[in-house]
Amino acid sequence: MGSRIVGTGRATPCTLVSNQDLERFLDTTDAWIRSRTGIGQRYALRSGESLAEVALRAVRTALDRAGLKPSELDAIVAGTVSSEYAFPSFACQVQYALGVTSIPAFDVAAACSGFVYALSVADASMRTGDWKRVLVIGADALSTMVDWSDRRTAVLFGDGAGAAVLVHEAGPRGVLASLMRSAGEFGSLLSVRATGARATIDSEARRSADDTIKMKGPELFRLAVKSMEEVTRHVAERAGVSLDDISLVVPHQANLRIIDAVAERLGIPAQKLFTNIDRYGNTSAASVPIALDEALEQGRIHDNDLVMLNACGGGLTWGANLLRW
Ligand code: ACO
Repeated sequence: MGSRIVGTGRATPCTLVSNQDLERFLDTTDAWIRSRTGIGQRYALRSGESLAEVALRAVRTALDRAGLKPSELDAIVAGTVSSEYAFPSFACQVQYALGVTSIPAFDVAAACSGFVYALSVADASMRTGDWKRVLVIGADALSTMVDWSDRRTAVLFGDGAGAAVLVHEAGPRGVLASLMRSAGEFGSLLSVRATGARATIDSEARRSADDTIKMKGPELFRLAVKSMEEVTRHVAERAGVSLDDISLVVPHQANLRIIDAVAERLGIPAQKLFTNIDRYGNTSAASVPIALDEALEQGRIHDNDLVMLNACGGGLTWGANLLRW
């Protein structure tokens, strides 16, 4: 017995921030951002908006497509590092908003690998436990943690949420293998203090400089490429699948150059790679489920296709899931 995704959904805040918008207050250009990252625009929460409300829209779409009612869920696992509250957890906020009671609901903190981790945890629990229908969420709002005067980080991140509904199922389709990895010794390459303060792009209040995202971009770039290549190979090996047989790779959308470098090392041709970073930026834990949902909507995934999800993020954390659709 294993688990299979039977419904997905995605949502973003309404405020679109283009590269041209950033040019107005940052020493940057659309050309630099596009050529170094592949990003053309991103969405950002405004003050008073809640990431949980954004996630709820993604969740309702995923449940509709799965043909399930919230009351039929056995658990909620949310990959996020930007819950408005330390507790109640993000998953509990969603649980309450859905009107579901008495089911386990908890967060998995793995930064940009959040969805891949959450899916791995949900799948493992469904194999060994009694969960039959599980909601997995990837949601983040790193725009509320950046220093909007720091061009090296402010241009990279966007906010959003994606959701997937898993059902317990026997048979050849579903999650074939998952891997989660971490290396805390590289934690300082991408970090932010847990202050609880949020500063949206439009708010007067600003985080103090010490409390904004700190990143060592070039080192992170190299490790992201290396780790995503490694985990993708290993998860394919674990499932006994050749990389040539993979129909589509849906990677974490951190930087188009990272995605292209990983694909080149793995010998994955461009037509087997899904990217949408140009329209969303790096949405952290939301990037894989948003991309997966778009790939499905665009008809890029068919029944029985082998689909690889992979991600790397702050922690460092990295991981991959291989699915037979
Ligand atoms: N606009 C214009 N110039 C800029 C900008 C900007 N937004 N940002 C940096 N620069 C300048 C730098 O100041 C530097 O100028 P200098 O040479 O005069 O000092 C120059 O551009 C080159 O800077 P680098 O940091 O070396 O640029 P690089 O080519 O490495 O690209 C980037 C930077 C895009 C951050 C890249 O290192 C990267 O993507 N790293 C991975 C980071 C990442 O993905 N983080 C997301 C979270 S982790 C994850 O999701 C995997």
